[in-house]
Amino acid sequence: MRILVLGGDGYLGWPTAMHFSARGNEVMVVDNYLRRNLARETRSEALVRNPNLHERASIFNAVTGKKIEVRIADCSNASELDELFLEFHPETVIHYAEQPSAPYSMIGYREAQRTLNNNLNATFNVIWSVIRYVPECHVIKLGTMGEYGTPNIDIEEGWIDIKHNGRSDRFLFPRQAGSLYHTTKVLDTDLLWFYVRLYGIRVTDLMQGPVYGLETAETGADSQLMPNFHYDDIFGTVLNRFLVQAVAGIPLTIYGKGGQVRGYLNLQDTLQCVELACRQPASKGELRILNQFTEQFSVYELAERVREAGNDIGLKVSLQHIANPRKEKEEHYYNAKHAGLIEMGLKPHLLTGDVIERMLRRVMEYRSMIDKEKVLPRVRWG
Ligand SMILES: NC(=O)c1ccc[n+]([C@@H]2O[C@H](COP(=O)([O-])OP(=O)(O)OC[C@H]3O[C@@H](n4cnc5c(N)ncnc54)[C@H](O)[C@@H]3O)[C@@H](O)[C@H]2O)c1
Repeated sequence: MRILVLGGDGYLGWPTAMHFSARGNEVMVVDNYLRRNLARETRSEALVRNPNLHERASIFNAVTGKKIEVRIADCSNASELDELFLEFHPETVIHYAEQPSAPYSMIGYREAQRTLNNNLNATFNVIWSVIRYVPECHVIKLGTMGEYGTPNIDIEEGWIDIKHNGRSDRFLFPRQAGSLYHTTKVLDTDLLWFYVRLYGIRVTDLMQGPVYGLETAETGADSQLMPNFHYDDIFGTVLNRFLVQAVAGIPLTIYGKGGQVRGYLNLQDTLQCVELACRQPASKGELRILNQFTEQFSVYELAERVREAGNDIGLKVSLQHIANPRKEKEEHYYNAKHAGLIEMGLKPHLLTGDVIERMLRRVMEYRSMIDKEKVLPRVRWG
């Protein structure tokens, strides 16, 4: 299959490109290094300096003999994206190319505007490139569980049947995002739904929870193939942050009471989910929405698990509740359905003590590179 991975230099994009290439697909990756640039601007660089995309593809080629085509281009620029679609004629496009940090989007006007313009224009351009050049192409778009917020009812997989004044209809599940970044994902979904209805394109929107982990089947061949691993308050996801804090001897920083519940998944399961979506595409004129996570935890529970696993291997891990920089409920109901991907064949890798220990040991290899000033929250909501 010809697979175009947009945002192919990212935490998820690079492992995805290697995964599909290793399995015999033709893969082209596209990135404009937005995240690397924003990380430099905000002093949020990854734990390990990753080779650039051309270098990564060369290293991958040297160890596997497989080729990944690399293009440096901006998906928010329609003509640059059109050219790539015309050249590559993808059968599947996996769209990761967005500014994914909630705290970054909440710094101020400039960062909010940059996030809004980048994310919406990228999605809008992907839709139009598909409509114009490859109308049969399956769009796999990464959304986020954060689109739903934390409603006081069960969260369905994308859709809800509503009865009103004796009549009923099916609608997108209500969304109420907690940051400007998450709001751009809500707007992305609305754009996709509009063009699915209007032009009959085929789309899978994966509502993903926070991802953790540093390893996939392909990363073992050479340490330089490791995904970008951020542990700061802006680009680091919560578990990755806790792992680094545990190794650095910094108390794990729990925002507020730590009762915020979210659905999490292992990086290896992201790859499985995207592969399942790819092999079982949405039909023409379908917006298929799948909730992509494997387990729910509160932030406090996550911190407790890291403390336990860390202490088992001789680290001295403690927890610290700090003022919550975000505006969010710290205690709330949360029950999100996620049967769709399991029914399609997902075999979850769960967050056991062994898994945490393995990740801690990997981070310990890079202990001397940890910049302790990156871990405390620098961005406050509102
Ligand atoms: N990592 C997670 O935990 C998580 C959870 C839920 C959803 N997501 C979504 O998954 C996607 C990938 O996330 P990630 O963690 O890999 O983020 P990332 O920042 O590591 O990767 C995104 C990549 O897209 C690139 N990019 C952004 N805008 C671009 C543009 N206009 N043109 C070309 N390239 C562009 C960036 O440079 C970056 O390399 C994002 O859409 C994110 O919202 C991620």
